[in-house]
Amino acid sequence: MRILSGIQPSGTLHLGNYFGMMKPAIELQDRGEAFYFIADLHALTTVQDAGALSENIRDVAVDFLACGLDPRKACFFRQSQVPAVTELAWILSTLTPMGLLERCHSYKDKMAKGFAPSHGLFAYPVLMAADILIYDSDLVPVGKDQKQHIEVTRDLVIKFNETYGNTLKLPEPSIQEHTAVVPGLDGEKMSKSYGNTVGLFEEEAAMRKKIMSLKTDSTPVEAPKPVEDSTILGLYKLVAGPADYAQMENDFRNGGTGYGDLKKRLFAAVWEYFAPMRERRKEILADPGYVERVLREGREKANHVANGVMTRVRAAVGL
Ligand code: TYM
Repeated sequence: MRILSGIQPSGTLHLGNYFGMMKPAIELQDRGEAFYFIADLHALTTVQDAGALSENIRDVAVDFLACGLDPRKACFFRQSQVPAVTELAWILSTLTPMGLLERCHSYKDKMAKGFAPSHGLFAYPVLMAADILIYDSDLVPVGKDQKQHIEVTRDLVIKFNETYGNTLKLPEPSIQEHTAVVPGLDGEKMSKSYGNTVGLFEEEAAMRKKIMSLKTDSTPVEAPKPVEDSTILGLYKLVAGPADYAQMENDFRNGGTGYGDLKKRLFAAVWEYFAPMRERRKEILADPGYVERVLREGREKANHVANGVMTRVRAAVGL
């Protein structure tokens, strides 16, 4: 089984990225042949500062490795270092109905937020389809916000295979129900573009301050607090053991504990959860050549597989 996923270097990685995609992807690296990449070409649709982009690329690489991506098990590389992917994206784009892209939520959301509608932003799902298809991927671990893009990919496979004969493999999304949408500090989906994130490797004081600023209702300390849709509980469940979680849920139901105390417990649990990753990150940063070596090896393997699929595609379309 081939597993593939990507992450954009468009800012600091946050709890949504970790629980929605990175953790499931890291678990899957033992279950098949994994390909994980840094979607630097996609990031160009929003990051147009060369210095910031190269810094983000390096940070994402370090942080993903610190979280447990194991380059002996998974091929880890940069999207832009596999040239065949943009060639496949072009070929797919010649089969992509405009209406399919016009219906994509992520494009519509970006428009609603006032982004200039570039062609790259519009065609984003076609490049994403190429990312998936160029490695003959079976399974794509992602958060729920990417589900529609995988449906687009599947539509394109069907269209391509109907037009040119059976050439491309039909991939499946893998979405974990309980972490499909990790909430941010305001209760909306945690997202870089909403400014409601908790970064995985923030400084202690900054992370505490952010978590203490989490939006809550005005239930008084003594009163029972609503557990449905509670962001504190939603996040706590991800980082606390079952007994601690049950204890906090009781404290919500019984009343007598203020939101301030509950948030302090949430911060402590998040901080502790990422302690081993912070240690690993220090080790990685202490070996300056390590990340480059990993990405160089990943690049070779990724190109080898991508070029094989591309040879098949070129023959199928008559190039
Ligand atoms: P990106 O960089 O926005 O996010 C990376 C992964 O994190 C997940 N995620 C979340 N999951 C749950 N709750 C949240 N609050 C949350 N925020 C982010 C995303 O669902 C994603 O899985 N288009 C992709 C990158 C990409 C890609 C691909 C992915 C490019 N090509 C091919 C898979 C296959 C993106 O923008 O992810």
